[in-house]
Amino acid sequence: MTSPVLGVCYYPEHWPEAWWAKDAARMADVGIVYVRIGEFAWSKLEPTPGDLQFDWLVRAMDVLGQHGLKVIVGTPTATPPRWMLDRHPDMLAYDELGHPRGFGSRRHYCFSHEGYRQESARITRLLADRVGQHPALAGWQTDNEYGCHATTVSYSPAARLGFQRWLKDRYGTIAALNEAWGAVFWSMEYTRFEQIDLPNLTVTEAAPAARLDFRRFSSDQIVAYNRIQSDILRAARPDLPVIHNFMGRFTDFDHYAVGRDLDVASWDSYPIGHLAVSTASAETKDRYLRQGDLDSQGLQHDIYRAVGPKGRWWVMEQQPGPVNWARYNPDPLPGMARLWAWEAFAHGAEVVSYFRWRQAPFAQEQMHAGLLRPDSEPAPGYFEAEQVAAELKALGFGGVFAKARVGIVYDYESEWAWEVQPQAAGFTHHDQVRAAYGPLRKRGIDVDMLPPDTADLSGYDLVIIPALFTWSEALKSAVADFRGHLLIGPRTGSKTANFAIPGGLGPDLPRNVLDLKVTRVDASRPTDQVAVVGGGSVSLWRERVETRGETKLRDTEGFPVLVAQGKLNYLAACGDAVLMQRIIDGLLADAGLTPLDLPEDVRARVHGQWRVYFNYGLEARRLTPAADERGYALGGAEIPAAGVTVARLATGG
Ligand code: GAL
Repeated sequence: MTSPVLGVCYYPEHWPEAWWAKDAARMADVGIVYVRIGEFAWSKLEPTPGDLQFDWLVRAMDVLGQHGLKVIVGTPTATPPRWMLDRHPDMLAYDELGHPRGFGSRRHYCFSHEGYRQESARITRLLADRVGQHPALAGWQTDNEYGCHATTVSYSPAARLGFQRWLKDRYGTIAALNEAWGAVFWSMEYTRFEQIDLPNLTVTEAAPAARLDFRRFSSDQIVAYNRIQSDILRAARPDLPVIHNFMGRFTDFDHYAVGRDLDVASWDSYPIGHLAVSTASAETKDRYLRQGDLDSQGLQHDIYRAVGPKGRWWVMEQQPGPVNWARYNPDPLPGMARLWAWEAFAHGAEVVSYFRWRQAPFAQEQMHAGLLRPDSEPAPGYFEAEQVAAELKALGFGGVFAKARVGIVYDYESEWAWEVQPQAAGFTHHDQVRAAYGPLRKRGIDVDMLPPDTADLSGYDLVIIPALFTWSEALKSAVADFRGHLLIGPRTGSKTANFAIPGGLGPDLPRNVLDLKVTRVDASRPTDQVAVVGGGSVSLWRERVETRGETKLRDTEGFPVLVAQGKLNYLAACGDAVLMQRIIDGLLADAGLTPLDLPEDVRARVHGQWRVYFNYGLEARRLTPAADERGYALGGAEIPAAGVTVARLATGG
């Protein structure tokens, strides 16, 4: 593995051409290596249909290349120009109320629209032809943030047609569909696929199996749409990576499936904005107002490492200062633009690319910081980027990124399923993952995310499967064969793929693996907390179980909370942070995993021969050197607020 480097997002079409050379020279001075351009430039590339104006893009690439910069070119399909609508008036995505979503911002297209798919293929091909051999070209980005602004799901006429075809493909006969959807209930049976409408505008909720199928279909449409572009780009330059920039805490489509058609997964990291719009507690939002939630970035990094083929991933956009899109947009704590980059590198990112080079003085994002201010003077992020680039170089940071010893199964379909039928408002798969992830990270334990069809769990000492909607055969047998410790979370295996309760009830595992049945669920308000004997509490989701396993924890009403059969543990409720920490600590001890002694607000991640510490807190902290460390290569035992310390390890590649 080569050493990670910095990048930046640049919009040459926003600035006079006379500025480009100076911009490029300054980027190179900062130590930036990659520059992403082009992803919203369609109206400049093709101002009117067929009038191709690619010369400016080539000149921009020439200039960047002359300064030794490597260019990632984005396809401009997230922003179809206005004339596209004249050509394809029916290309718009429709909202749930059945209204078309208008022109005037971005992402105003429906993934199912055949005409727009062809236009996307056409512009992608033209781009590949025109710049595909440019010496500065180093990779491609497909589109921009699929699904952003709630655009994964569209209730358009094109989607309706597409859905009917998709269902025909999946079920073959209408009888099979009626069976799968439980359509006998409420006389919902169909006699032809053409009768099937999208599951919006029904009087009350549509059948959960129908709604989940619509989510699966919507996800597949993105996969198919992305594949059109990735096939073209890969054919043009098989040697260059095809990348997409996904988002944080975003689960509307199956990222693993899109990832299979990429070479590198990337995501756009806006820690402060994300915390502001998240469901985190008011206390967390106060405490990390200017830093972002201390485990969210790490979790996303780990997810995208799993999404990226062969573990390859980047941060394509990194917040450099205040953003513009949350209700309030605080200034980051000095040092955070550096810390976030280091945190990403510690989790294995190959590139961290700041968004954006210069703050735009016009249009929607004029209040969004860049590395430069609108007057071209450096903003604080500029100096932090410069520092990171220098530090990476000085350390020769990088090396082999090893597999972690703890894995957590992360599943997009489970997220859709519990959105379709929450039973307890606010119950999500992601939150259950997060509830296990936080306590592990607090103990300095590194984690890998595992797709739901993982067939082999060997090599892990501990695997956690939180709130998994339904088992894949692969994972089910991997669980049966696994010799390490397991924690299976509430609601796991509680449904079949057709969204029905399994014949043997959840969690639907063979008796020799786990002799336990969930017989009833108490889904109550998050404020209805029931204490657990010994500490912590459960709320939101409490399962009543029949089991021959050993009850390790009970709530004060006498119901089993944690049941064990050999090394397999089943958690029958949603636990609070105290309970989750107790359970995780117990499992770490059982699995022989040694925690790190981390101060409050400090997290750590091992990468190759390095352990990187980051302090998300507002106060300086003192690190206790771990037994495997051989001193500090950057920073020291005293780690300031928003500080980074890098320790050198005795072993590691
Ligand atoms: C991202 C997007 C960028 C920009 C940025 C602002 O979601 O990809 O184009 O809008 O947010 O934070």
